[in-house]
Amino acid sequence: MQVSQLSVRTCLTLLLTAIPGFLMSGAATAAQITIACGAVGMERQLCEEGAARWSEQTGHDVEVIATPESSTERLAMYQLLLRERHDTVDVYQIDVIWPGLLHEYLLDLSPYIPDENAFFPNLIANDTINGRLIALPWYVDTGLLYYRKDLLDQYGYDVPATWSELERIATDIQAGERPQNREFWGYVWQGSDYEGLTCNVVEWLVSHDAGNVVDEGQTVTLNNDKAVKALATAANWVGKITSPAVLGYREEDARAQFEAGNALFMRNWPYAWSLGNNPETSDVAGKIGVTVLPRGDEGQPTGALGGWHLGVTKATKNPQLAADLVRFLTSEAEQRRRAEHGYLPTRSALYEDTALTSQNAVFEPVGQALNNVALRPSSSTGRIYKYVSRYLSQETHDVLAGEKSAEAAVESISRRIVEKSLGDFSMLR
Ligand code: GLC
Repeated sequence: MQVSQLSVRTCLTLLLTAIPGFLMSGAATAAQITIACGAVGMERQLCEEGAARWSEQTGHDVEVIATPESSTERLAMYQLLLRERHDTVDVYQIDVIWPGLLHEYLLDLSPYIPDENAFFPNLIANDTINGRLIALPWYVDTGLLYYRKDLLDQYGYDVPATWSELERIATDIQAGERPQNREFWGYVWQGSDYEGLTCNVVEWLVSHDAGNVVDEGQTVTLNNDKAVKALATAANWVGKITSPAVLGYREEDARAQFEAGNALFMRNWPYAWSLGNNPETSDVAGKIGVTVLPRGDEGQPTGALGGWHLGVTKATKNPQLAADLVRFLTSEAEQRRRAEHGYLPTRSALYEDTALTSQNAVFEPVGQALNNVALRPSSSTGRIYKYVSRYLSQETHDVLAGEKSAEAAVESISRRIVEKSLGDFSMLR
């Protein structure tokens, strides 16, 4: 009697566990979805893990395609694939600034997403173009200031609140550290000529109360004295507290120097916190702090709004499944898992969860930065944003390299933006 009861239970268990597998593994029903994601920090690994979970749940395969580390290069790759209506990639991880550039190639996701109200309304607005929800926000970024807590303590300094304080402290500690470490610099950031430099530039501008290049009324506001001061201040760091090599740095270069113990301060995104504290890979684990970026003498602290969203190409052969992968990857459970590594949620409810927010130090400064967020002018410039960003990073790079004055750069960038808009934008003089 006992034996037969057991075998019935065993049979039932086997049957119940086998049914979903049987239903899902039929060769005729399993599809393959391809997602282009990842590149910086743990992005790729977290994307692969998330995709594998979806795959397990649904029985469909996911291929993860690597993307270039630089946002500028990723855009070039995507534009090529999307314009040609390739169906080799179904789901794209897109930058927060791209909806205006890519919306016509992406599906409206609203029919597939049951709870878009659970996301921050501003981010949903960012992704809604002509009434179509062309992507779903996946994670939020803001620029932050990382510092060596141990060195500030040793030299008796507080965390700097202004750029002038940062410069003063960096100059002093750099001089003190150089005899032990010839590679040591005060401040590392992203100075290469690409989208990351544009983020730094907009932070310098907004923290000096100099506007964010083009306002909502499509007036080019860049040509002003505070903007000149902001750019000249940064140019003055180069060779003094910032190595000239920074003019070739992207996020991962800055992080490598900071983690090797070669920098006092670093500007980077939230992902750098948990990696910087990993004793297996970082020489400065446990010795670092993170806070909001400094302000100009007249401005307020800020951070650029960054972050990545997920969109589905109109060319996909599997819209339903591709949208389901997006739904899954942006679900609360996935966002919670990713938040533990500093990829911050786009769902407001997760910020109410103190168990989550207290275990990662970036939540607080990110909140502060978002109060006075530095928006790149992507919404106001739409289709021409790519050029606006290119002018900003190219000409600022020249200023940082000592090849152009800050005055000449703000004048020339402003003029080029107005020209590129075919005169639709006006210029504030
Ligand atoms: C980060 C941001 C993204 C930005 C990029 C620049 O990935 O999330 O918005 O464009 O850095 O390098």
